[in-house]
Amino acid sequence: MVKDIYSDIIRKLNSASNCEGTVQLHKKFHGIMKNIASLNFISKVIEENLSNQEFLDKEWTCFDIPFLQIYNNNLIDLKYHLFFPNKSFKISNASYMIHSHKSSVLSSYVFSGKGYHTIHFDKDIKHIANNYVELRITKDFFHSQGNFNIVDSYEPHLVSNVSEPTFTIVLWTLGDNDILKDDYNVPRSFYLEKNRFKAINDSDFLHKMSDKVDHYNYKDYHIQAICYFIQKVGYKNIAFLKKVQKEGNLNDLWGKWISRLITEELINYPFFNEKFNFINESPELSEIRNIASF
Ligand SMILES: [Fe+2]
Repeated sequence: MVKDIYSDIIRKLNSASNCEGTVQLHKKFHGIMKNIASLNFISKVIEENLSNQEFLDKEWTCFDIPFLQIYNNNLIDLKYHLFFPNKSFKISNASYMIHSHKSSVLSSYVFSGKGYHTIHFDKDIKHIANNYVELRITKDFFHSQGNFNIVDSYEPHLVSNVSEPTFTIVLWTLGDNDILKDDYNVPRSFYLEKNRFKAINDSDFLHKMSDKVDHYNYKDYHIQAICYFIQKVGYKNIAFLKKVQKEGNLNDLWGKWISRLITEELINYPFFNEKFNFINESPELSEIRNIASF
């Protein structure tokens, strides 16, 4: 039965064509996205992921949002994304730098947890000298449970920290002709410097962050987060987990957290550490509002 739901959704996703205009295409999928927040469907996805050696062997970086892969082909990527509070529970701060996803269009649907605050900026960015830019706010709202949000291609946006674990379904689509434009030298992130916004490309960002990244040693974060999710949604197929533990080629981290799922030991959620996402400090959303124009 669950298998049938899964194949039906894959058939619909595969038959999608990007030529209808991407935002329209996204709206068409919002109905499907609501249907894949059921425990039956999530359980199927959990089992698909835990049976996938490539997923189990993934080397997570501090920049990755913990996820389970629902489906992907060369045009579409569909995931559950897992967001966690930081230790200070400061929801008035940003959790990632202002960024765009270049040619990708993204839809997100909050299906568990309160959600997060998000600010969108005009795609038409005014460039000033020395990589300084002016950004204009176009949307500023709380993205709450049960709601969809679309981030258009090249649209800079910002998300706040969450006050409690928040799970979303996220759909990405690539623009038709823009794939070649997606290189590491296009500035797509923005940070605050001297009370102004400054643009930075991915390679310069990674270079500036290399020191911090070298000190990133919270190796459990992503796998703990995924196992917290598996327990929190009420996944109950212990026989399957025992099979994975016995027959799967698990590394020590997966072995440790899957054992806790099997013994039904309560798994706490890991705290998010936003310092790996900022060149400077994580700004307050109010600072952003003060500096941006409307
Ligand atoms: Fe984003």
